Amino acid sequence: MAKASKRQRPGSPIDADPRQLAEMIEKISRIGADPVAGISRVGYTLPEREAHELVGGWLRDLGLAVETDAVGNTIATRPGKSVETAAIAFGSHLDSVTHGGRFDGIVGVVAMVEAFRLMTANHIDTRHPLRGVIFACEEGARFGESSIGSKAIVGALNEGDLSRIHDADGHTLAEAMLDIGFEPSRLREARWNRADIAAFIEIHIEQGSTLEAQSRSVGLVDVVSGSTRFRMTILGSAGHTGGTPMQNRADALAAAAEVTLAVESIANQPSHRGVRATVGSLDVYPNRITIIPGRVDMSIDVRDLDPDRLRRASTEIVNRATAVCQRRGVTLNAELIADVSPVVLPMWLREVVSQVCNKLGAGYCVMPSGAGHDAQIMARIVPAAIIFVPCRGGASHVPEEWASATDIASGVDVLYHAVLKLDQILSHPPDRHLQGVSCEVGPLPGGNTPADDGPR
Ligand code: GLV
Ligand code: MN
Ligand code: MN
Repeated sequence: MAKASKRQRPGSPIDADPRQLAEMIEKISRIGADPVAGISRVGYTLPEREAHELVGGWLRDLGLAVETDAVGNTIATRPGKSVETAAIAFGSHLDSVTHGGRFDGIVGVVAMVEAFRLMTANHIDTRHPLRGVIFACEEGARFGESSIGSKAIVGALNEGDLSRIHDADGHTLAEAMLDIGFEPSRLREARWNRADIAAFIEIHIEQGSTLEAQSRSVGLVDVVSGSTRFRMTILGSAGHTGGTPMQNRADALAAAAEVTLAVESIANQPSHRGVRATVGSLDVYPNRITIIPGRVDMSIDVRDLDPDRLRRASTEIVNRATAVCQRRGVTLNAELIADVSPVVLPMWLREVVSQVCNKLGAGYCVMPSGAGHDAQIMARIVPAAIIFVPCRGGASHVPEEWASATDIASGVDVLYHAVLKLDQILSHPPDRHLQGVSCEVGPLPGGNTPADDGPR
């Protein structure tokens, strides 16, 4: 890493360095750079491992103890200086979707490295231990199921899940782990004891355009969307495109097309306002111009901030797909492959971060997250917060994904000071967490207001 440039006046603490952050992002982006487009650093592949090793090396250079757990999460520890034993943790992921961008997850990882660097540069000894985490396989792009590393940490995966969950080639999660040197049978060793952890914070790009539209540099997430996912197989009859009359066909692709439009129309119904439903993949067999498609495999991802609406829309999608396929004389197999509920993040922790924003003069808004995050999984065992930084045009999961190093540095400053503040206030028993934390209502300095658009 380059030596940090100093943006601050003599005597004031050292702030996050945009140049350093940009340099780390650039180096990580070379791993898994896809010759076709963007970055393909998919979970449980060698490029993901290489990225973990690269960043693990940077963390070791900062003097931290770094280890890889049983499922491939990288964990760095900086000891605390008092009797406090519960760690304050922060981090994100390094895997990407296929042909993805260079910021999703990566921002939270380089923010973690930079926050540790600032601790040392500013000669800070925290009372609590600090724990930096790089989660394995956050993206659901390969296995349909997301956040594998964090689910292992909170105990939300069992060995049966590792053999059940598989990618489009039928490769199970357990096999994928074995292929790169992990032992799925050691899954339980990855689990954290909730008594050892006091709070978790993740910085992430927004993956939407609310911050840009409102000219805010920081978003503080109140609710994270849930996601219900299906894999559907439609079986018709393959046949000759010239020889088979239209009335004698069982065209799997025509049925899949009708199901796709039904998914869109269900999500657009006023009664489901807020639902986002997407057919993200269609595999057509045999996929030849002169053969009527005999089979289509498709995946459907339904997201919502409201758990009831999420499940109602999902049920309606399956019912409608069943009716379409019955009418068309094709067979439908629908498999539920993932179902994660929306998560409300604790207000007291968001208030701690918002007070830091006010102190630093960082204009923020409170907003929901349309995307899923490891923090939403970590919230099952520990108070968790998500800090969003803007990304250009809201583009994400695409090669064009972009966030400015200056915005990321502002986010790191908020993270760093939030960790220091937590280090102070968490030195009390849990029922006294709220001491010194006031709940602000109404307009905040800098005109902060809740976001009124986005996925709500
Ligand atoms: C994570 O990137 C998600 O798909 O929500
Ligand atoms: Mn992400
Ligand atoms: Mn993602």
